[in-house]
Amino acid sequence: MSNAKKTRVAILISGRGSNMASLLAAAQAPDFPAEIVLVASNRPDAGGLATAAAAGIPTRALDHKAHPDRAAFDAVLQAELVAADIDLVCLAGFMRIFSADFVEAWAGRMINIHPSLLPLFKGVHTHAQALAAGVRLHGCTVHYVVPELDAGPIVAQAAVPVLASDDADALAARILVQEHRLYPAALALVASGRARLDGDRVVFSDDVSRADGALLSL
Ligand code: GRF
Repeated sequence: MSNAKKTRVAILISGRGSNMASLLAAAQAPDFPAEIVLVASNRPDAGGLATAAAAGIPTRALDHKAHPDRAAFDAVLQAELVAADIDLVCLAGFMRIFSADFVEAWAGRMINIHPSLLPLFKGVHTHAQALAAGVRLHGCTVHYVVPELDAGPIVAQAAVPVLASDDADALAARILVQEHRLYPAALALVASGRARLDGDRVVFSDDVSRADGALLSL
């Protein structure tokens, strides 16, 4: 693997970037199949930009408010991704909806992490949604991005029990620990080709163990 060409990855963030940091850390390993070559944010004040810069990763602050509409912002982002010769986009707390054209341009080449066990609890406030629904298991999902929000073929999921004492913050904190394990594992599977799209589902190569692809925690 260390001699194979690595998948060139851009990470898109809007905030603190803790998932981004977990991907950067994993990509330090010589045999990790992806290299992070760009971190971009639609918010110039995103804390994660400084973290990435400190790690020596090129960063771009692309203020979406500086562009007249969604298509204009997406075109600027697209130009940056093309210039950096990006193979795969990882959304990591990127809180902006794309135009259909942008999603189409990256179909099969863009993944996201969402803090619920999809298809449950799409959108925002997922931990409050889970508590209100009374589920006993909650978690996080890495999935391919499709035009429908928080849908798309699932690569990997991790689950945690919901405790009687949980509030949304406590649940979020325990799930974030799992996000930081899951996203690097899922990126490694996708970048190495051991997980790949087959129509509307993700299929795995024979060597992928249950622990790689499915529930990482319970
Ligand atoms: C994470 O919970 C992620 O699942 C969600 O937004 C949050 C981003 O956190 N999409 P961070 O910026 O990675 O710390």
